[in-house]
Amino acid sequence: MTQELTTTATTGEPTPSRPGWWREAVIYQVYVRSFADGDGDGIGDLPGIRARLPYVKELGADAVWLTPFYLSPQADGGYDVADYRRVDPLFGSLSDADELVREAHRLGLRVIVDIVPNHTSDQHPWFRAALAGGPERERYHFRPGRGARGQLPPNDWESVFGGPAWTRAPGGDWYLHLFAPEQPDLDWDHPAVRAEFDSVLRFWLDLGVDGFRVDVAHGMVKAAGLPDIGASEQASLIGSQVLPFFDQDGVHEIHRSWRTLLDSYGGERIAVAEAWAPSAERLALYVRPDELHQAFNFQFLTCDWDAEAMRATVDASLAATGAVGAPTTWVLSNHDVVRHVTRYGGGARGLRRARAAALFTLALPGSAYLYQGEELGLPEVTDLPDEVRQDPAFHRAAGQDGFRDGCRVPIPWTPDEPSYGFGGARPWLPQPASWRRLSVASQSGDPHSTLELYRAALALRRELPGLGDGTMSWLPAPEGVLAFARPGFACTVNTLDRAVQFPLPGRLLLATTAVECGARGVLLPRESAVWWAI
Ligand code: GLC
Repeated sequence: MTQELTTTATTGEPTPSRPGWWREAVIYQVYVRSFADGDGDGIGDLPGIRARLPYVKELGADAVWLTPFYLSPQADGGYDVADYRRVDPLFGSLSDADELVREAHRLGLRVIVDIVPNHTSDQHPWFRAALAGGPERERYHFRPGRGARGQLPPNDWESVFGGPAWTRAPGGDWYLHLFAPEQPDLDWDHPAVRAEFDSVLRFWLDLGVDGFRVDVAHGMVKAAGLPDIGASEQASLIGSQVLPFFDQDGVHEIHRSWRTLLDSYGGERIAVAEAWAPSAERLALYVRPDELHQAFNFQFLTCDWDAEAMRATVDASLAATGAVGAPTTWVLSNHDVVRHVTRYGGGARGLRRARAAALFTLALPGSAYLYQGEELGLPEVTDLPDEVRQDPAFHRAAGQDGFRDGCRVPIPWTPDEPSYGFGGARPWLPQPASWRRLSVASQSGDPHSTLELYRAALALRRELPGLGDGTMSWLPAPEGVLAFARPGFACTVNTLDRAVQFPLPGRLLLATTAVECGARGVLLPRESAVWWAI
């Protein structure tokens, strides 16, 4: 069961009524530029979010995770930070951030902010000084090129966004950027880098945030000597093997020191790793007791709609995190991947499966991350005109990973206002006309809507003591059906395209579609999930 928060009147900091809040928390990801626009410029901002916090509370989440809102030239949606202690004027001011945190705490919501330690913006004062030949150069990876005139990159590493991971700087040396050229990688062997991030973490902890989502937590340490990989299409290798720039063992020492820092604050401040590791076992290393609290479980996100594969992924995830005493996380979508309605086939089928996947994952042991708009059943927007796209990946490597704008289209709040109530007349990405009927207001109160399904599921998750943290056991089920029990509770998922007869597990609590129960059996509708009291 997810515990309620109370608020201490003086500091506005939430105090958990039970330790380990994060082990079962439902954390709602707010993609800042696309959630709610308070000033009507077409770009979401902190005041817009603050005004909509009651919506998140009413949905039933425990916390919000805010994507980067720091000073940034926005070469990669704010993941290129020029000043880690300032709020970009696009999104508001530092006092807006402060008020947002206080308002969230007043409502009993915790706030997690993004920290981007692998790279800075090329406009960060350190990098500008580095280019000017200052000693700050040592804080990045500058190397001479290969070839007779140094005209070739120092090694064969490729950027995640496509093209070489190196750009030649004025003066002739090359600098490393695993992402866009505007995102130079920091050299974490340099003590100033470590000291600076300790200070940045403290800055936001002092402001009252409850934790951090650690961007590219698997990338900060590079293999000594920066060795060649000897293969191309390296982006396709991420998550399937340890690369000299990802998932190096050295990153764990940084996470350990951050854990000590977090623990030096009261109120159970947490960190969640965005780490792409080749196996559930390697991912679990990030959540050992003296490291970070959580890591996103991308193994499940990348799993096909296939009962056997889903079950195997759940087992592997729980076994790996269980071995180190950590909870797992369940996540179906985020701002970097195609929305799961579309991944699961799109249209009515994609939505059926997405709804079932939501009930499935919300019933599993652990914590769950929701990506804004999934509770509305939003699909990926696949027909954005090229000229409005802002994802650097699209421009660097069209066709490789060029689809991240389609999951970032602003949220529809109301059916009839301009930009469907997002704010302003022209949102930074256009919303499809079909989103009118998917707006929050259109779905509220409709018992068949995806929004009401999520609200009901999250309310039950709070109420039922058997959900959240804890254990589960699989129940016998025919091929294509997943069934598992938790204390006082069972969940069935029929992944097949046809209804399946199943012995009645108990009393029906919640279902993704109408279910008819007989005296002894139930016909599980195609591509559905049902929660049962047992
Ligand atoms: C993470 C972020 C992604 C960003 C990248 C570089 O993967 O989620 O949006 O582009 O890091 O910072």
